[in-house]
Amino acid sequence: MSVVSPDLLTPADADAIPVRFVGPKTALDGRAASWASANGFKGKPGQMLVVPNGEGGLDSVLVGTGERFDPWSARGLSAKLPAGTYRLEGEAEQAQLAALAFLLGTYRFDRYKARPDRGAVRLVAPQGLDLEETLRIASACALAREMVDTPAADMGPLQIETIAREIAETAGASLAVTTGEALLENNYPAVHAVGRAATPARAPRVIEIGWNLDRTDLPLVALVGKGVVFDTGGLDIKSAAGMRNMKKDMGGSAHALALGRLVMQAGLAVRLVVLVAAVENAVSADAFRPGDILSSRKGLTIEIGNTDAEGRLILADILTRASEHSPDVTLDFATLTGAARIALGPELPPLYTDDEALAGDLLAAASVVRDPLWRMPLWHGYAAALDSEIADVRNDSAGWAQAGSVTAALFLQKFAPETGTWAHMDIFAWNPRNRPGWPEGGEAQAIRACYQMLRARYPAPKSAEGR
Ligand code: BES
Ligand code: MN
Ligand code: ZN
Repeated sequence: MSVVSPDLLTPADADAIPVRFVGPKTALDGRAASWASANGFKGKPGQMLVVPNGEGGLDSVLVGTGERFDPWSARGLSAKLPAGTYRLEGEAEQAQLAALAFLLGTYRFDRYKARPDRGAVRLVAPQGLDLEETLRIASACALAREMVDTPAADMGPLQIETIAREIAETAGASLAVTTGEALLENNYPAVHAVGRAATPARAPRVIEIGWNLDRTDLPLVALVGKGVVFDTGGLDIKSAAGMRNMKKDMGGSAHALALGRLVMQAGLAVRLVVLVAAVENAVSADAFRPGDILSSRKGLTIEIGNTDAEGRLILADILTRASEHSPDVTLDFATLTGAARIALGPELPPLYTDDEALAGDLLAAASVVRDPLWRMPLWHGYAAALDSEIADVRNDSAGWAQAGSVTAALFLQKFAPETGTWAHMDIFAWNPRNRPGWPEGGEAQAIRACYQMLRARYPAPKSAEGR
């Protein structure tokens, strides 16, 4: 299971090649200055220049940052630099973020294609860097990305369960899995309805990890994720273009599991519940239908206006399950709507919460660790768009409300725990543009922001750190 190799960050190395972050106004001297002007290097963002040392080796590397130094530009380093060991020059705090950016940029999805070995690009760990912490944060992001990148045929409900089991066992956490017909006996009717069309080997399931639950003195954090391993749209089948990337529709579950693993590895002072519904939204004679009325764990009946609005159905049941733990904080992650992209594009996940303190803490954390979130409203003016004449609620909001990501969040809010606070993130989990350090494919979004918020609120006791 995905971990970032600790070899990528090495202790001090006298021969390491310096990497200098250079803006348009940075004064360069000697060899670097003349080489930069000869090559038209002006310190623009995205520019990089290798400066030779005159003996056939490297003197240094210049990385363009634009007007403001941006540690995030280190993300492209491993894709662009020749093999070797490098050290970052610059301020310590920035260097720490740059080291993390460098590690995030080393991710490659190479499960199905051998790549020519370019040799390793290594970085000398900057002064004061918490190596373990940095590695486990990067590993969490790599796990989420790898799960998203893995095709649906190899990332079905069972594979998600297997990953959850490994995470739970390693952390000494409990694991409970409810599969197939047992979903009906155990009152997960919506999860069953959405997932029942899949072939038996890919039966729907609810996966629940519990950690530290006997520590009733600690706050309880619930992490909830949408795990639709493939979203055909169901009988309201998607177009070819709309279906093309739907292997990523389990991104929410990948995010909840990766963040959960990180919280447990860091030993944060919380009780933790991770809840994932893993289903395939398939087409078969047994598929749920437009016009069907589902029951839900909470007891609310749901009229199905569109079988492609399936994520909110499975989340309804597991949000209700989360509420049974009386959580202090519930965070859910879901590739829930195409409308979220229309609103904010691929890089900016909408954040929904009615709790001002949670919103403030999450947005502050997001900006500190450069993992953006953008707050959107749970606008009650649109709540009536979810009214049904013949059921308690409908799953596809009426057209007049238009704001599809908002109405999806309003739907979830009906099922979210009433104890504590709840936040929902409508993530894209995908990088659509191929750039060095940002390969096209699965992307971790909001994991680092949420972790930063949790770490600030519930720091690990010193003795528990890094277990
Ligand atoms: N998984 C999709 C949402 C999605 C689509 C996320 C593309 C990222 C990229 C979700 O299940 C879905 O199909 N939502 C529908 C809801 C509609 C039918 C009410 C949508 O957004 O179109
Ligand atoms: Mn769908
Ligand atoms: Zn979906």
